[in-house]
Amino acid sequence: MIDQAEGLRRLVRGRSSSPKILTVASGKGGVGKTTVSANLGLLLASRGLRVCLFDADLGLPNLDLVLGLNPKHTVGEALSGDVPLREVLLTGPYGLGILAGGRDVNLAHLSFEQVENLAEELVALVRDYDLFLVDCGAGLGVAVHTFAAAADWLLLVTTPDPASLTDGYGLLKYLAQNDLKASVGLVVNQTRSFHEGREVAQRLQLAADHFLAQKVHLLGQIPYDDALVRAARKGEPVVKNAPRCLAVQALGKLAETVEEQLRGTEKRQQGGLRSLWRKFLGLNFGLGGK
Ligand SMILES: Nc1ncnc2c1ncn2[C@@H]1O[C@H](COP(=O)(O)OP(=O)(O)O)[C@@H](O)[C@H]1O
Ligand SMILES: [Mg+2]
Repeated sequence: MIDQAEGLRRLVRGRSSSPKILTVASGKGGVGKTTVSANLGLLLASRGLRVCLFDADLGLPNLDLVLGLNPKHTVGEALSGDVPLREVLLTGPYGLGILAGGRDVNLAHLSFEQVENLAEELVALVRDYDLFLVDCGAGLGVAVHTFAAAADWLLLVTTPDPASLTDGYGLLKYLAQNDLKASVGLVVNQTRSFHEGREVAQRLQLAADHFLAQKVHLLGQIPYDDALVRAARKGEPVVKNAPRCLAVQALGKLAETVEEQLRGTEKRQQGGLRSLWRKFLGLNFGLGGK
């Protein structure tokens, strides 16, 4: 007999032998990508999904901080060849996997074989997860481009702030015109009212539809909530620190919606993770990976 969690996992994962990829991106920084990634990851894991979080912000990685974790090793060290990738993988609450980012990553000496080995390692490491959730740095960095191109779902985060919305649209425009195969979801964060969030979403949806012929699904909105600021100061994820606050209620709804959407879409790109990783390394460090 399969239990409920196992049934859910099968529904989300579909027939694929590798996890679905959900890439979280934004035009501007400080809009809440890491907050959404960390808490969404935790909530989906608490519902029985096997989720692996990847901090692809190699400039200012902080996913581990938001989760209140203290990783022994980082992806940066694995990329430098200092430790195997499996030793970087940290297991958080509900079996949530976390690959923490790294600062001052030095990859100049990576050979093509090492890139291939790292690709194999990553694929083997995440094979048993249902979802690979990637928290990107702001704007159009190399990582965003690569992880968006390999994603099944791109989750764009914006606030109602006009600059955040404009930059978010700019990022989507670039990605949509450059081979985006992912379905696109939107989260409006730090809203002051439901009305405000809906209006912001509609503006982006209309522009994307009209000028880019790109459908954008509003997956949720999260109110501005001081509980998130307090949780961040304490270095705890808000779903643990203040499980009943308004932001967590909204994150809970978001998690439900994301889960439904993941169930409803077949995996787009088989083998995407391996080529994604190669490309990521190649693009970042001039190795010419394809
Ligand atoms: N809904 C919210 N209400 C209040 N503060 C928020 C909210 N979402 C995020 N924040 C705060 O905004 C700051 C930036 O969030 P973060 O997730 O690090 O953004 P990003 O990853 O996009 O740079 C953090 O201090 C975080 O606690
Ligand atoms: Mg961040």
